[in-house]
Amino acid sequence: MTSAYLADRPTDAIDAQYVEDAVRDNAWLHFTQMADYRDPDKRPLMIVRGEGSTLWDIDGNAYLDLLAGIYSVNAGYGRRRIVDAMAAQAAQLPYVNPFGYISVPAAVLADRLGDLAPLGGDARVFFTSGGSEAVESALKLAKQYHTINGFPHRWKTISRRVAYHGTTMGALSVNGLTDARAPFGPLAPGARHAPMSHRYRCPYCQDASACTLTCYDEIERLVEFEGPHQVAAIILEPVQNAGGCIPPGSPDYFKKVRKLCDDTGILMIMDEVICGFGRLGTLFASEYYDVVPDLITTAKGITSSYAPLGAVMARKGVADAFAEPATENLPAPVAAARKGGFQHGLTFGGHPVSCAAAIANLDIMLEEDLPGRAREIGQYLRDALEATLGNHPNVGDIRGVGLFLGVELVADRGTKETFRDNALLAWLTDQMRQSGLILRNDSRNDPTTQLCPPLVITREECDRTVAILDETITELGRQLGTVGTRHAAASV
Ligand SMILES: Cc1ncc(COP(=O)(O)O)c(C=O)c1O
Repeated sequence: MTSAYLADRPTDAIDAQYVEDAVRDNAWLHFTQMADYRDPDKRPLMIVRGEGSTLWDIDGNAYLDLLAGIYSVNAGYGRRRIVDAMAAQAAQLPYVNPFGYISVPAAVLADRLGDLAPLGGDARVFFTSGGSEAVESALKLAKQYHTINGFPHRWKTISRRVAYHGTTMGALSVNGLTDARAPFGPLAPGARHAPMSHRYRCPYCQDASACTLTCYDEIERLVEFEGPHQVAAIILEPVQNAGGCIPPGSPDYFKKVRKLCDDTGILMIMDEVICGFGRLGTLFASEYYDVVPDLITTAKGITSSYAPLGAVMARKGVADAFAEPATENLPAPVAAARKGGFQHGLTFGGHPVSCAAAIANLDIMLEEDLPGRAREIGQYLRDALEATLGNHPNVGDIRGVGLFLGVELVADRGTKETFRDNALLAWLTDQMRQSGLILRNDSRNDPTTQLCPPLVITREECDRTVAILDETITELGRQLGTVGTRHAAASV
């Protein structure tokens, strides 16, 4: 039975049992315990169609996708313009070897991103096929950059605890998630981790009226301890994903990191894999924080996930270092690093069909001002969340930026006591799904409901989302024994 996957057949012609069996027996879902599917009552969710912010499963049930794929379908589903651009490119020329060659769409996209990226103008763009590869490439780029400049001993990195930067070994090393790292050690040496900046649960200043930036001081201390001349890069997410949409405690946080990097020669990498392409209300997240990093990593929203693509964008001065000549009498590692440019490549980096998708996606973003939309509708959604859930006994914090919002769930609002009950969170996710909502109840730190929809989500869809959240979180409250409180009395 091979016809089950033919995309040009009507979705009701798909053989659901065949697909389900394939999932049970052969497919390997990411970060998923496949043994769960031995239970015949547990059916995998098989999505077959999408339009705007709505998805339909194989049985015809509709869902609002509050996760935008995986924080990534920024322009929404059903964008004919992107599909046509991909089809036209595939028909004309599906592939060009990126090792010394380039396709027209890759060159055009590099030119446009080079101008748009907040890196001081004329940035150089190295394409990958996803976010982990973008981070991996940025880390290697930083290390080779320092070797070219005569500092081969700059090999350490600084990132933050609970950070998520991907799953390949280099990217995993800068991750700050213990469970994700644990099975794979030893990881890349030199990866050091500072505390995150988390206003609601800050160990230094959660009770102070404003962030004291002690979290930043910890980065400075770590740099001092590791030796500034040994650190290649500091990599940060603009709004930290794992733990639930955590912006820095102070708007000055990234500016202070910038200054530290200027003072020490460390490269600053903003990992915008989620936060770029409109998510925070600006095309690039670094613009939102008014900071110019040395490198920006991006993926996901770059094509709104119509095709796999990622990129590292480098400040001109950083990229130009790779053209330094290998003059005589250089130490061997420096001479080697100066030969042949960036010593790194990927067969699918900058795939022409993906770049064609990215150009069409960028046109849509700019013509429809999707970043502006994320700002406006993000504020609407946030206001609605605060009005409806702001006093809920199981809602500790509502936070985030643009259309990347988190609702931290607690057992006790007064004491901020958390609950780390994955079964309860799985139940919550299931309840929400049954009510027509796909989203993530993040369990990688303190439990947080994440709202990260396509940037085209409507006000009516936001209202529907908030109503479902109110209902399901109130039900969660019943299970946690908080029913009967002011909120429950008012809303039930
Ligand atoms: C900030 C960040 N960096 C890197 C990655 C890895 O991207 P990918 O899953 O495309 O490899 C992710 C994925 O969610 C991410 O959020």
